[in-house]
Amino acid sequence: MPRRLVTLLCLAMVVATVAPGGSSRQGGPVPLAITHGPSLQVPGVSSMTVVWHTNRPAVSHVEYGPTEALGQTAVNAEHGLIDNDRTSHVVRLSGLPPGKPCFYRVVSREFLGYDKQHIVRWGETVTGDIRSFTTLDTAARGYSFTVVSDIHENVARFGKLLSVVDWKVTPFVVFNGDMVNDFMTEGQPFAGFLDAAIEVFADTRPFVYVRGNHDVRGRFARKLDEYFPTAAGRAYYSFDQGPVHFVVLDSGEDKVDGHEYYNGLVAFEPYRREQAEWLATDLASPAARRARFRVVLSHIPPRGGEGYAIDEVRRLWEPVANTGRVDLWMSGHTHRVAAIPPAAGANRYHLVVNAPDTLTRVDVLRDRLEAAVIRENGEKVAAVTVLPAGGGAR
Ligand SMILES: [Fe+2]
Repeated sequence: MPRRLVTLLCLAMVVATVAPGGSSRQGGPVPLAITHGPSLQVPGVSSMTVVWHTNRPAVSHVEYGPTEALGQTAVNAEHGLIDNDRTSHVVRLSGLPPGKPCFYRVVSREFLGYDKQHIVRWGETVTGDIRSFTTLDTAARGYSFTVVSDIHENVARFGKLLSVVDWKVTPFVVFNGDMVNDFMTEGQPFAGFLDAAIEVFADTRPFVYVRGNHDVRGRFARKLDEYFPTAAGRAYYSFDQGPVHFVVLDSGEDKVDGHEYYNGLVAFEPYRREQAEWLATDLASPAARRARFRVVLSHIPPRGGEGYAIDEVRRLWEPVANTGRVDLWMSGHTHRVAAIPPAAGANRYHLVVNAPDTLTRVDVLRDRLEAAVIRENGEKVAAVTVLPAGGGAR
């Protein structure tokens, strides 16, 4: 049995014996523990975000460096104040060299409260194992990335899909929305897919979290960034790896904002318009123009189905993507595999839509992208070759 699985099982047994109030059934205090993570998210050529959870509020930092000697420390502070009351810990590492290994470990010290304004009571300290990851690199060549979507917390299916991934050539994975199946319970992502992702890969290589309509729905949706942090507070952003400029968009909910389903609690229409403006700026940036390929990631597709949200994504974002020479757009949501080639007067990009029981593997080659949609059993159900600058399929 893998070591980390044993650790998880032991942890589950400890948690199972915890009574309300933080003491064990035997009466002793429950030790501070790292309960989930770390995972690596929001990757960049000079940065990485580390996320983990503890069973009680703690003050946390990450020790990191180019060797196992580590040597540097990063914390999360808002307006100069370091977090001290959270069980979710999100620390951004920056100033890293591109394409190089970085060793790291997470450290949490239990925060028990203030005795006076300048006297704090501390509990135990827990320290994670030393792990490593590699930063992204615009000079990277010959890699693959994998997209999964619409898992809806089906962890068994998720595990089967991950078993198809060739980790030797995969620097990151994209979760393209609806990984959560309506966020109604605290900690729901852990059993649904997040612990499994960490068990297989996510503590040594990052995933990119694209928000889907079921991720942003439910009581805890507003806590999503405690599990899946954004880039500088935005759930839409871009990053680069090798010859590809990636754009992450947040397509929001799938019905009109005024629909009774949302009880007046959503405002995705202005949010999508805001992203259209940002997308135009991003695709005109030096990074996007310099890249050989531009790839958009949005949960709701611009085509390949019917409905309000698909129409809105197409109406607001497709003209911008066409002007900005997007080569490939990758989505989920419809639960139907689709591969739609460029068409005159319509989409100038290739669209590939992934389904819940498939993953999409994209091989990034010097002169083209090779996208393959693959079922859990390894069967290939669609294949698309993307040439640069909106070129047609071969
Ligand atoms: Fe969806």
